Amino acid sequence: MVITNELTINKKRLNRNMEQLAEFGKLGDTGVCRPTLSAIEKQAFAKVAEWMEAAGMTTRLDNCGNLIGRKEGKDPEAPVVMTGSHIDSQPNGGRFDGTSGVLCSVEAIHTMSEKGIIPDRPIEVVSFCDEEGWRFNKGLFGSRGITGNLDADELNRKDKDGITREQALRDFGCDPEKITESVYPPGSIHSYIELHIEQGPLLEKVNQPLGIVTGIAGPLWLTVKVKGFAGHAGTVPMDMRQDALAGASEMIIAFNEIVKQDPASTTVGTVGDLKVSPGSRNVIPDEVEFTIDMRDIDKDRRNMYEQQLRESCRNIAEKHSLTVEIIEDQRTDPSYCSSWIKEVIRSESMDMGLDAPKMMSGAFHDALIMSSVSDYGMIFVRCKDGISHNPEEYASQDDLAVGAELLYRTLLKMAQHEAH
Ligand code: GLV
Ligand code: MN
Ligand code: MN
Repeated sequence: MVITNELTINKKRLNRNMEQLAEFGKLGDTGVCRPTLSAIEKQAFAKVAEWMEAAGMTTRLDNCGNLIGRKEGKDPEAPVVMTGSHIDSQPNGGRFDGTSGVLCSVEAIHTMSEKGIIPDRPIEVVSFCDEEGWRFNKGLFGSRGITGNLDADELNRKDKDGITREQALRDFGCDPEKITESVYPPGSIHSYIELHIEQGPLLEKVNQPLGIVTGIAGPLWLTVKVKGFAGHAGTVPMDMRQDALAGASEMIIAFNEIVKQDPASTTVGTVGDLKVSPGSRNVIPDEVEFTIDMRDIDKDRRNMYEQQLRESCRNIAEKHSLTVEIIEDQRTDPSYCSSWIKEVIRSESMDMGLDAPKMMSGAFHDALIMSSVSDYGMIFVRCKDGISHNPEEYASQDDLAVGAELLYRTLLKMAQHEAH
């Protein structure tokens, strides 16, 4: 097992940066609320940019709201090796989701610069814009932006206060008119590596600090809009009602049954947000909107379950004399990590005395989008009780430091001309 006081990276500096970043948008003792494109994220970006510059990188904010630090390579024209993650958080999130990947990357580059190492290929560290997706109901914005995967209506999406993504980008200092200038030309990204906390319980179970990701489940995000007719809660007989919430509740239960039908499958499904109108206890609800998040590494199965869900919603709506509309917010295919990067991670981790297990990611990451333009890999870091998207999320300083060390070694190999 690797001994943490023999690490090349600076564990103390990494830990200090993690603690300082957690102050931006701090909630309670350990929670964080750092919405994408918010004033608080802007302040946090300024801090991260300062650390990137201290680490020997030049920095820029692109027009998609990504913060990008660049460590020049011996061959500045060579396609870049990219690493990073995100620092936007869930509304009541933890302090390790995303931040670990950004700050371990900055630490890896800082160590390179201190040792006077100039990689063959340039390396860029990216803090991607809006990975989480809850503010505008569609995530992975920054990675979709640089890979040319934005939709036509993307900038018109509104948050709960009616602010458009376009306005939020402007307020953040970006120029949405020039958003396409942020796209990297084909072939200019050599490869991508992301470190992230596991957000699940497996590494703790097998008593290992790090894991090697094999693939990422693809998320399907839908919004279901159910319409009925409002009426008096005390007078309309039960058999005359068009209660949108009674119908939506049945749809949600049906969705759970669909996703659970095969206990051996990796499919998961969540309804995480629900709006009821007009929202009065003595009015029969006439409109309900709820979100669907369904994921699987098996795209065919996910598609089959989606068809079952659509059919159930139609049948339930008919039974309650309702109408139902299903809007697609995000549909991303699952993807498998590149063999050569998994192999680099494996051999470097073995060299460190680790026996890192291979594992799939149920959570999505910017890496999933980067896979559309380049080879990619991921390193997972153990997190306590598998808790994430929760203020109780926790990864130890030792585990993060060992993760940063493995990332440092992996990046050095990926940035060598002879590596792939
Ligand atoms: C990312 O935060 C996800 O929901 O997987
Ligand atoms: Mn994340
Ligand atoms: Mn997250």
